[in-house]
Amino acid sequence: METKIIKKLKKIVGPDNLSTAKEDLLCYSYDGTAMEYLPAAVVFPGSTEEVSAIMQLATEELFPVVPRGAGTGMTGGALPVKGGLVLAMSRFNKILEIDTDNQIAVVEPGVITGNFQDEVKQMGLFYPPDPASHKFCTIGGNVAECAGGPSAVKYGVTRDYVLGLEIVLPDGSIMNTGVRTSKGVVGYDLTRLFIGSEGTLGIITNIVVKLLAKPRSRSTFLILCSSMKQATELVSRILATITPCSLEYMDKTALSLVAGRIPFDMPPSTQALLLVELDGDQESVALQSKNFAAFLKTENNLLDIRQAKSDEDKEMLWSARKSISPASFDLKPHKISEDVVVPRSRIPELVACAETLAKEFDLPIFTFGHAGDGNIHVNIMVDKNNPIEVEKAENAKKRLYQKVIDLSGTLSGEHGVGITKSDYLALELDEVSISIMKKIKTLFDPKNILNPGKIFPS
Ligand code: MLT
Ligand code: ZN
Repeated sequence: METKIIKKLKKIVGPDNLSTAKEDLLCYSYDGTAMEYLPAAVVFPGSTEEVSAIMQLATEELFPVVPRGAGTGMTGGALPVKGGLVLAMSRFNKILEIDTDNQIAVVEPGVITGNFQDEVKQMGLFYPPDPASHKFCTIGGNVAECAGGPSAVKYGVTRDYVLGLEIVLPDGSIMNTGVRTSKGVVGYDLTRLFIGSEGTLGIITNIVVKLLAKPRSRSTFLILCSSMKQATELVSRILATITPCSLEYMDKTALSLVAGRIPFDMPPSTQALLLVELDGDQESVALQSKNFAAFLKTENNLLDIRQAKSDEDKEMLWSARKSISPASFDLKPHKISEDVVVPRSRIPELVACAETLAKEFDLPIFTFGHAGDGNIHVNIMVDKNNPIEVEKAENAKKRLYQKVIDLSGTLSGEHGVGITKSDYLALELDEVSISIMKKIKTLFDPKNILNPGKIFPS
């Protein structure tokens, strides 16, 4: 990046809020994929006006700008694949307003999702989207990727909570979308267009979200199964009986990675488990739990059923579940982390396919995730320093994607396309859809300066 541009950027944000030092750039060169691309500079804007001035400069000088939250994304959305400027949103870290009467909040995009959840909880409110990385990820990144999490089975994903956005467009203009009310249908839904747009259409600088009343009670069950088939076939039957707030699944490998954190003994024959949580007020949770326990008794051959007796046990169970992804690196130094979704009744076929691929390609491939949504994380473990393994893993991924499409599924439920799935876009989307999406990108970003190289095949 030319010195004159760096000088102009420093003038916009102040000299302390820009760096070109290699040691700083390295910190902004990677994300949850463990891939690395070095930017030319990183800038830390402190206001919407500064973001707007940066985008005006980028439009004049034609350098790439890559918005970044906490860099926890799993598909490369925050990677500066074409170099240029990383726009780190860490100074946008304020909760601006929590309106308890109207159950909405206004937050800046750099707020850590888990901190926001804790803050509203203290006011008797609830912000449901709960990605596994909620203690580190930012709400702006969640909006950009439309993050989900275990509670999506009952409460939906990030898109279901965003009412409005303030966005800086690539030419520097500032746009406000959506409403502060619980309904609103004036004009096209530009808010939704930006949710899940992976930082390719504009920079989110402000977010209005809706909140719910906090459920006062929850009850957590662990169902131990003797096979993956038994566990995954149970999912649809559970959902025909109750509406849990989470219905998670782990195969035997996932379980072995976090077994030490699970506060119960499990028979060695456990091949898979379901983690089911019910929530609501105390009376309703008691009734749901009773009905659920009665339903489980009618299921033959379950290995065992455990119910968490204390909040500590519940926390331990969730901590175990949310540690699967980081713990997976015990198996191999790298992974291809998938978040495919299939209709729930097809989950048994999907996990059987993952098992077949593991044997055929002789790689550790395991499955876990949000079974209640049919959203299964298939993790293909690999050592990227071994080209033979890399090729095998890529072939396994290709086969998995084809199977997902054959099962009427989708390639991504919550991690987005980024760079890891862009070559496979046409497997799922028809030509007309891809062409309309490209036109939308060109409409907002005619010079292709904002997060170039993402979503669409290069
Ligand atoms: C999870 O649900 O644990 C994550 O979405 C999966 C991951 O981080 O690989
Ligand atoms: Zn997930």
